[in-house]
Amino acid sequence: TNDPTHVKLNRLMLESAQIERLFFGEVYMRTLEWDSTAKRLKMIDQRVLPSKLELISLDTYQSVYQSIKDMAVRGAPAIGVAAAFGIVLAAQQSQAGDVDMLRADLNQAAEVLGASRPTAVNLPWALKRMLGVAGHTYSSTADLRAALLDEAQRMADEDVALNRSMAAYGAELINDGDTIIHHCNTGALATVDWGTALGVIRMAHEQGKHIHVLVDETRPRLQGARLTAWELSQYGIPYDIISDNAAGYFLHTGQVNKVFYGGDRVARNGDVANKIGSYMLALAANANNVPVYSVVPTSTIDMELASGDEIPIEERDQDEVLNIQFQNQPATPKGASARNPAFDVTPHELISGIVTEKGVIYPPFEIHLAKIMQES
Ligand code: MRU
Repeated sequence: TNDPTHVKLNRLMLESAQIERLFFGEVYMRTLEWDSTAKRLKMIDQRVLPSKLELISLDTYQSVYQSIKDMAVRGAPAIGVAAAFGIVLAAQQSQAGDVDMLRADLNQAAEVLGASRPTAVNLPWALKRMLGVAGHTYSSTADLRAALLDEAQRMADEDVALNRSMAAYGAELINDGDTIIHHCNTGALATVDWGTALGVIRMAHEQGKHIHVLVDETRPRLQGARLTAWELSQYGIPYDIISDNAAGYFLHTGQVNKVFYGGDRVARNGDVANKIGSYMLALAANANNVPVYSVVPTSTIDMELASGDEIPIEERDQDEVLNIQFQNQPATPKGASARNPAFDVTPHELISGIVTEKGVIYPPFEIHLAKIMQES
């Protein structure tokens, strides 16, 4: 019963003209948003981008669990905030007659939501924060429900503000004329809005710097080719998609100035877990003296872990690797098997700087991370 994978997601299909206005135009929409009229969580379905821009509307915490697991919503900060709204929905669903019973239902929902994906620490971080709010004293279940919605909304708003602050610090690292390799998707879609590493690039672009982005396609789920390229087109930032295995070539031939990516969990020594392929990219960048920056909010930093060795790495279904086509035919033999780790760890020695909302952190990370985390 704790695995609600059978829940169907409600789908709202929108006309594409209407959608462009909705997402990036005057009528503006975040990657995920609370619909206060319908009392539901609305989100962009990232599985069908860029060919379709569809919203899904979720009214149970079980459907939020499923949207995270299936990656309708993905990206460390976005899944954290989605889970926070999952708790709001759990409170709404609960039939509990008093505050203590409601708390028990919330704890159970938090367990389910927390099991959706293991690597990004933003997910347990957000759930812990919501349960912390639930732990305060309330005179009625209605008061507790209202406090949970306030907290989730606050987290969503904070995420956007933090991203802008990281972007401002990070943009100082980018020079006019830079060519940047970017891995996975770290833009508005990976967060509530604006983005982490891609937010830095976007900020530099808005400052008038001319930037060219080499977009790692990011096998197997193609977050780069599908999502980052789509976002860059919206922002008018020039880019070329490259296959992941071309990054070494561009680095070795002197065509790249910087590497930027996000992070799903940073250990206290500065080791960074991020989308699979980040490690190889960092190795190639270091071998060619190109700096590597990871851009993360402090909610992605896990001071409980001494090193990246302790970070749980998600392994996803082998079909994500196997189900590819070549000339409209299956590209892999029937019955082939695959391995599909979704993340890897870049050892801190390969990272030049970690950009946070508190500023850019340089080595020795162990000391500098402890300092900023104490302040927060
Ligand atoms: O599997 P995903 O698409 O959720 O992985 C996302 C990433 O690896 C991002 O780089 C990371 O979440 C940081 S970006 C905000």
